[in-house]
Amino acid sequence: MKIDIPLNKANRLINSGQVIMVSSAYEKRASIITLAWNMPLSHNPPLMAICLTKKRFTYELMKRSGEFVVNVPSTDLIDEMWYCGTHSGRDIDKFKETDLTAQRANKLTTAPIIKECIGHLECRIKDEKDAGDHVIVIGDIIHASAEKALFDERWLVDKVKLIYHLGDKFFTTSEKEIVK
Ligand SMILES: Cc1cc2nc3c(=O)[nH]c(=O)nc-3n(C[C@H](O)[C@H](O)[C@H](O)COP(=O)(O)O)c2cc1C
Repeated sequence: MKIDIPLNKANRLINSGQVIMVSSAYEKRASIITLAWNMPLSHNPPLMAICLTKKRFTYELMKRSGEFVVNVPSTDLIDEMWYCGTHSGRDIDKFKETDLTAQRANKLTTAPIIKECIGHLECRIKDEKDAGDHVIVIGDIIHASAEKALFDERWLVDKVKLIYHLGDKFFTTSEKEIVK
């Protein structure tokens, strides 16, 4: 038996995307937004996309600077991830409130890396497309780095747990690697 899902929750059937923390900065403000809606787009050139609503403070920083970093948290950062996804940076400094460290990126000039995250994609905004109440921001990945002990061609999920969003306050983690 299948049940009908209300359309405002339809995306939850495919929503179990990896949770990322996107950092951006402009002039003296740096901030972080938690995002679950993201996807790889192209190998060559390397492109990825994030999907967010235009009212997000971080979107303003991204638009002004033209840069953002996709930071990968492990479950060690579940509380910081939740905080950055439930508070707007418009009136608070999320780096300060969470004790996360803004570190200079390898290639980008304004957007910082979140040091405590285990992987980073440094992106320059290439394009954006309106999508209903969200906007898809396409990033040119100009540098990628990951914790050496945790990444060897893929995340070593027996050593680290990634976070996936099921919608609302529900999450799951990476568990067991399956090799075909
Ligand atoms: C697990 C999780 C996933 C989220 N995913 C998205 C997303 O994909 N797109 C989006 O616009 N907001 C998403 N949010 C909401 C933003 O993170 C939240 O509104 C945040 O406070 C915005 O911060 P800002 O206004 O400082 O940029 C998510 C929140 C959580 C907790």
